[in-house]
Amino acid sequence: MDFSLSEEQLMIQKAARDFAQNELKPGVIERDSHKTHPTALLKTMGEMGFLGMLVKSEYGGSEMGVLAYVLAMEEISKVDNSCSVAMSVQNSLVCDGVQKYASEELKKNYLPQLASGEKIGAFLLSEPEAGSDATSQRTTAIDNGDHYLINGTKNWITNGKFAGVYIVIAQTDADKGHRGINAIIVDADSDGITTGELEDKLGIRSSDTCSVMFQDVKVPKSNRIGDDGFGFKFAMSVLDGGRIGIAAQALGISGGAYELAEIYAGERKAFGKPINEHQAISFKLAEMATQIEAAKMMVYRAAWMKDKGMDYSQAAAMAKLFASDIAQTITNEAIQIHGGYGYVKEYHVERLMRDAKITQIYEGTSEIQKLVISRNIRKGTLYLKTVV
Ligand code: CAA
Repeated sequence: MDFSLSEEQLMIQKAARDFAQNELKPGVIERDSHKTHPTALLKTMGEMGFLGMLVKSEYGGSEMGVLAYVLAMEEISKVDNSCSVAMSVQNSLVCDGVQKYASEELKKNYLPQLASGEKIGAFLLSEPEAGSDATSQRTTAIDNGDHYLINGTKNWITNGKFAGVYIVIAQTDADKGHRGINAIIVDADSDGITTGELEDKLGIRSSDTCSVMFQDVKVPKSNRIGDDGFGFKFAMSVLDGGRIGIAAQALGISGGAYELAEIYAGERKAFGKPINEHQAISFKLAEMATQIEAAKMMVYRAAWMKDKGMDYSQAAAMAKLFASDIAQTITNEAIQIHGGYGYVKEYHVERLMRDAKITQIYEGTSEIQKLVISRNIRKGTLYLKTVV
């Protein structure tokens, strides 16, 4: 078993870390306070290759692989989770899905602009009445010969306002249940599309989350991804990959909070010595570091499995479940170590605690991850069997 990272992976990790610390950190409190979308920063991330990390070079991607993507996600999530969620959706749900399942024509049309960050993508699955129960799609894509007519409302859409490309999951034939659902690429500037107000959220506040409404939106049938009725399986399959991205985000949030707590504990003195020399604090740091290492193993292994072409569905669900749970504890403890300073914005840890919560909710709640894992256990897909 080789736990070392390649030269290239280390370089990508360092580039992401430098970018996060030097470019993202200076304005992150301000952006979070005012819900300011990081438009220019996402553009730079696109130029650096961070938005098309799984896309082959022939389609304009940086083709760095899943583990490298996770390393970059982790560094960016230590600082700015509005940027990292946009990055995760773009790489896992949009680019990877199009590359894996769309027609050659769609790949050529859409991937170069998405991989370069020229256009941001969004994944439109959730609805007012279809969250965890994703088969209950009310949005319809009626087959009208050479085009679909899309009607309905999508909710909680990450990148909803600023995206140029939407992947819309919609019901074409309700009688067929999940086998009547399609995934369709829609240009966000098509006639009949409107977006709602930005949500006023607890965390990831500068990410543009909003509803997207469709009224008689006409889309060529050639924009459908895969065969007729493949949309639900498409959504499930890309979400497996998305869960690795969100697990990496949760890991980064934990790492960011830990790093701040460790520095603070070395500098802050109480009772005549740095507080990291008091057992109450040093034991907290020891527990936090151990949890982070455990999560890292799970997240990196899920990424490695995807890189190797193995079935990673269960590994991704486990990694997201565990990494998002420890992010709650670790960010909370990081605030505790900072005392009163941790409770104010200037010290960054309170934002990381607010950002951590969403990782237990989006791209499948913790309860949905347990459902996926327990179903796999019942099917006899033992986790270790998928590795050896
Ligand atoms: N890959 C491919 N196909 C899959 C699959 C997977 N991982 N999981 C299930 N399927 C297939 C099944 O094989 C089945 O097909 P057949 O009937 O042909 O055999 C079909 O999909 C239906 O599967 P289930 O019967 O298991 O479906 P279900 O209704 O029980 O739902 C679920 C399963 C796991 C609960 C699913 O609905 C789910 O994951 N829900 C959560 C949705 C979610 O994650 N939403 C996140 C929104 S996107 C977001 O948050 C992005 C963002 O902006 C940050």
